[in-house]
Amino acid sequence: MAGHETKKTRPKKNASGVKAGSPFQPLWAGRLAEKPGAEAFAFQASIGVDKRLAACVIEGSRAHAVMLGKQGIIPKEAAAKLDKELSKIAAELESGKLVIDEAAEDIHSFIEGVLTGRLGDDGRMVHAGRSRNDQVAVDFRLYLKRAVPELQGELKETIAVLLDKAEEHSGSVMPGYTHLQRAQPVTAGHWLCAWSAALVRDLSRFGDALKRLDECPLGSGALAGSGLPLDRKAVAEALGFARPTLNAMDSVADRDFALELASSSAIAMTHLSRFCEDIVLWASEEFGFINLAESWSTGSSIMPQKKNPDFAELIRGKAARACGNLVTLLTLLKGLPYAYDKDLQEDKEALFDSLDTLRICLRMFRGMMAQARFNTSRMEAASLGGFLEATDAAEYLVRKGLPFRKAHEAAALVVRDCIEAGQKHIGERSLGELQKRCPLFKDDIYKAIAPAACVKARGLPGGPAPGEVKRQIRTLRKMLGGPPDL
Ligand code: ARG
Repeated sequence: MAGHETKKTRPKKNASGVKAGSPFQPLWAGRLAEKPGAEAFAFQASIGVDKRLAACVIEGSRAHAVMLGKQGIIPKEAAAKLDKELSKIAAELESGKLVIDEAAEDIHSFIEGVLTGRLGDDGRMVHAGRSRNDQVAVDFRLYLKRAVPELQGELKETIAVLLDKAEEHSGSVMPGYTHLQRAQPVTAGHWLCAWSAALVRDLSRFGDALKRLDECPLGSGALAGSGLPLDRKAVAEALGFARPTLNAMDSVADRDFALELASSSAIAMTHLSRFCEDIVLWASEEFGFINLAESWSTGSSIMPQKKNPDFAELIRGKAARACGNLVTLLTLLKGLPYAYDKDLQEDKEALFDSLDTLRICLRMFRGMMAQARFNTSRMEAASLGGFLEATDAAEYLVRKGLPFRKAHEAAALVVRDCIEAGQKHIGERSLGELQKRCPLFKDDIYKAIAPAACVKARGLPGGPAPGEVKRQIRTLRKMLGGPPDL
């Protein structure tokens, strides 16, 4: 009979679409007679996102299995078999011999399913004293313990590129801005060191987060630990954590580490975004301070002349994701009752996206900056219009003994005189004209207010004087080599 044949040739499926007898049945299949339908099952599954934790799931499972054997919770032979098979699975996943089956609910279910499929009852022993709640917490942390230092490496390389440029341009005078109005002359080196200082703080923020997440949640079970004699310390040690977490409920509910990393990423992306805003402005014809390489620019489909700073714009745009992901995580957590709730499954997608976004943006930003050329003559010329030397003229008078408020007023009046006369720089006024506003002006004023001299005079720690910028570069370089906590 046809019906009979169908039964034979087509393996029976349950409602979720997982084939009967498949090792990837939901781990909770025994409890529920009715299973979610295929669409509903896929809705609540997370394997599409958490599959990148596979290596960490295996590492955590190996440490757990070995400990179960040592503690006599499972037979030593079973523990050895589990350990061996798990390392084989890791190698097969790495080589592509084993492909992750996305019919499984999550990566934890997949790995346990493979183990059970291959080892039978020995495979079924691995989950003793463990829940996916503490498992996902440990796997996520293990993943971050590797991914975050890599990201710190990207930050360091990016800062190194900026510092090389800063060194090259420690004497390249340019206007510094406040309110996007010309303020005081600085150098491109000073500007690049400002960015580097911000990125070095990012580096240390990631370091801080890493220190706090360095605790192992395994052994916390679903929320209440286990009655089995687990050795939490041994597992923490085997996995390279500083110590086990303190409280089982906190261990499965806490996602502070995700918040801290999402926050660090959002701050770093906000830095990149601001830097890119400068680049976009400065690459414009109106400023013309920076010339982006053609290979780091794009054209227009209609305007033949265009050379657009798309990379800088897109980095600025992608900062929105990082900020959004932080808000997603904060919002996700703010109303969650203790301890684990399925909502927490949403944490990984948001944080992975933040880390991925920051990583690629750092790489793009660095490539773009390494090949960018400063138009030093444009920058220098721009330092001569807009009275950037006015503060230095006032300080000149202070050095001659005038109270600052009076010096400020005298310099302001000189600026007004210049504007009335159509002059662009205080140096264009004769000494007699200057002395009308303040008799303390002498011949040496002209030297003192040349842009390069203004910059050179500001050699205090943190200032833009070329020698001081070189000192900042040395300090920042040392910070790259040193410990992440500055
Ligand atoms: N996929 C889940 C997550 O990422 C794993 C933990 C599931 N635990 C549970 N009790 N449903 O959060």
